[in-house]
Amino acid sequence: MSTSDHSASVRVPFAIGTSSASTQIEGTMPPSNWTRWAEQGRVVDGTSPNPTTDHWVRWEEDNQLMQSLELQIARVSVEWARIEPRPGHFDEQALQRYVQEYQDLKERGVQPLVTLHHFSHPLWFEDLGAFTREENVSIFLRFARVVVEHLGSIVDDWVTINEPNVYATQAFLFNETPPGGKANWRRLRCTLRNMAMAHIKCYELIHDMLDSPGRSVRVAFAHHVRAFAPMNPKNPVHKAFTWIDDALFNRAVEDSFVVGKFSAFLGEPKTQITPGFYADAIGINYYSRTAVTGMSDGTFPDVPVNDLGWEIFPEGLVESARRLNARYQLPIWVTENGTADNGADGKLERFRCRFLLDHITAMAQACESGVPIERYYHWCFVDNWEWTEGMAQRFGIVAMEPTTLDRVVKPSGYLLRDIIRSGAVTAKHWETYAEPEGYPRGVPLSQPGKESVR
Ligand code: BGC
Repeated sequence: MSTSDHSASVRVPFAIGTSSASTQIEGTMPPSNWTRWAEQGRVVDGTSPNPTTDHWVRWEEDNQLMQSLELQIARVSVEWARIEPRPGHFDEQALQRYVQEYQDLKERGVQPLVTLHHFSHPLWFEDLGAFTREENVSIFLRFARVVVEHLGSIVDDWVTINEPNVYATQAFLFNETPPGGKANWRRLRCTLRNMAMAHIKCYELIHDMLDSPGRSVRVAFAHHVRAFAPMNPKNPVHKAFTWIDDALFNRAVEDSFVVGKFSAFLGEPKTQITPGFYADAIGINYYSRTAVTGMSDGTFPDVPVNDLGWEIFPEGLVESARRLNARYQLPIWVTENGTADNGADGKLERFRCRFLLDHITAMAQACESGVPIERYYHWCFVDNWEWTEGMAQRFGIVAMEPTTLDRVVKPSGYLLRDIIRSGAVTAKHWETYAEPEGYPRGVPLSQPGKESVR
């Protein structure tokens, strides 16, 4: 991203806040697909989603902190395993706790966007085959209905399902998330198809239950969008896989979820779906660009990277937003964007402020050229449990003292507050916050297998 001239202010016309998911922050987690995964020793650093940030206990303190940073919006979620610990048995206390938490957030001026399924579900649902079976869609809808009955008077904005493409490919192709196992294309396709059905039916359900005159209820799904580019643009195999990756990972998912159009790859669901519009905004989760040589992820040599080796490429976010808006003429919510910056030498972070300045500037400029980005939810608030990566990778604008779990706001937290206050990215923000060292760089391809280094 061009970061040379930062003397002019760029107006930021979208709302700003952070994004999180219940399993990653709450602790005291009932049995779910992810508690089992952790028990099976599948998490890199051996941690589990207990206690992670202990948010289930410290929610009030976290809400206060969000308010003190003047966040305007927050993407949050509800934990299905906690709400429906046994099939058909709903825990009223847990539901009331969520009501209290999100009501409080709203009263503090932070507008909640609630996700219903963010990678985790009760163990009993996993053992029924989860979304590999079409008949299980109705079980998800039963849960969704109960949540909307409870939270519907507080919450206007909903995400039905988080990153179906990541959920399905990581589980059924790459054996990186539960239930794991050998690559199974049939289960991958069924899962994507059934999740699209679940989303569409849930979209209709939420509108049926909540629409009323004068109220604007908006429902989306959070789509993990990748920028794909051939590692070697002259190599026909790299080029072909770039097209395939984009078609399967991005476009097939978009068409089924947004307009109910099922490609041959996904196959038609047994239940008839009428093509139409099943999203009120496009939720984009964007992190990085993939350099394609085949089906798995790669990174270009010697590009800016984060502590997980993911390329830092703000143009990819803007291009995706532009492409999706042109395709569906819907507003864009960036439902996740962030980076693993684990800090070093006593500093809590090395490049997150620069990352924020680059990405927010790129989006603000895209808005000037007509891309309707309405919201930006930074991933994440407090450093949390990063699924298979455990607690080691830090994405938060707030750090956590490892033994007391006390919260410590990072410079990036204050930067977000200052951008919200000014309604712009200004020269002062660059001077005050942008880390002078710049980004880490990826190792050249001549050293395969090495971690990215500075
Ligand atoms: C997921 C988050 C995750 C983030 C960073 C996204 O794919 O939705 O839950 O923590 O990536 O790894």
